[in-house]
Amino acid sequence: MIGDKLRYTYRNDVGRVTNMNIGIDKLHFFTPHVYVDMEELAEARDVEPAKFTIGLGQTQQAVAPITQDPVSMAANAAWPILTDDDKEAIDFIIVGSESGVDQSKAMAVHVHQLLGINPFARAIEMKEACYAATVGLQTAVSHIARHPESKVLVIATDIARYGLNTSGESTQGAGAVAMLISKDPRVAVINDDAVSYTGDIYDFWRPNYSTYAQVDGKFSNEQYLSYLETVWTEYKKRTNKTLADFKALAFHLPYSKMGLKGLRQLLPEVDEAKQAALTEQFEASRVYNKRVGNIYTGSLYLSLISLLDQSQDLQAGDTIALYSYGSGAVGEFFSITLVEGFKDMLADESHQAMLDNRIQLSVADYELIFQEELPTDGSQLVLSEDEEQFQLAGVEDHKRLYK
Ligand code: COA
Repeated sequence: MIGDKLRYTYRNDVGRVTNMNIGIDKLHFFTPHVYVDMEELAEARDVEPAKFTIGLGQTQQAVAPITQDPVSMAANAAWPILTDDDKEAIDFIIVGSESGVDQSKAMAVHVHQLLGINPFARAIEMKEACYAATVGLQTAVSHIARHPESKVLVIATDIARYGLNTSGESTQGAGAVAMLISKDPRVAVINDDAVSYTGDIYDFWRPNYSTYAQVDGKFSNEQYLSYLETVWTEYKKRTNKTLADFKALAFHLPYSKMGLKGLRQLLPEVDEAKQAALTEQFEASRVYNKRVGNIYTGSLYLSLISLLDQSQDLQAGDTIALYSYGSGAVGEFFSITLVEGFKDMLADESHQAMLDNRIQLSVADYELIFQEELPTDGSQLVLSEDEEQFQLAGVEDHKRLYK
């Protein structure tokens, strides 16, 4: 059992102190049903395939057809794990994304309607590059500390688009991760140990007028590692923990080699046996990311799901460190602790089947799909039906219609 020291102490409005465990009760990801093979993409771009598969650590890249936007992907990630009781108990939906479809209306409002959540709920979208879902999780924990019977649905959803024939093209992807946060969670307790760090830099950004991200790739790699160093050093100071205290680490993975660089930066702090063990866990944590690509806000949580689904020797009581990084930039280091029975809550078979049942696109077809656009003049477009539970059905009068 998880010790009392992990429990949140919260003094409520009438001054009563309550202790409770708050964390991830269920989690699930969604990625569209088509992908491009990275070796084929490398050949088409006249690049050595090993650069993509080994140098970046990516073997496949999910492609979002026009019928799957960040809203429909968010709903597709969440619906398989929600029961009617969950939908009644959820009173807060937080969608973290940097692929927003509207400057005003939160995607969470669409998601709330699509999923049939209790109408007396808050719905909001959060943004800070790939970091937003992490602050979504921390906000959910604070909300539940005050409202113990409620549940919060946190979803990270994004389509990573750098453009055809750009240096970032190899690190694109599409997908969403949904996490149900509650008291007495059945997957993991979110520990109260987060250390965050904010700095005003331009390593990756997307101006309002652009559908493609701007990126200073080398600089963003350096900043990712530099923020890791900063938050990890401060984390050790505040908690007195060492790397040896963690069974595994999960990193934000814009491409899977990035996390390996982060891990290698920390490994010299432990002996060789522990280095080998952490490296083995890292390999489990990037199995899915290698096949999906970058999903921005969801990348860290896709990696966590990969670790939980794929690792052979995780046990209740193990603590996993998470490093979240959002360009611009905010870094955060925190941990979760697995609880008794967590394996029973994993959707590993559903995840594996989703990846295995996808259809491979030729590079030419990927390019055609990539260039499809919705009208921006208010005209009507009716899209054909795809195979997912939720999809973008069309646009009309500048409004998105879902089914
Ligand atoms: N076999 C094996 N590895 C190879 C190779 C080959 N034939 N050719 C190149 N590589 C390796 C390089 O050595 C390099 O590895 P290293 O980083 O460990 O040194 C890696 O492949 C990438 O090569 P590089 O020349 O740096 O690639 P690039 O100029 O195309 O840039 C990114 C790569 C990631 C910077 C670029 O894709 C990008 O800007 N992505 C978006 C931003 C991003 O993801 N930032 C991350 C922080 S959030």
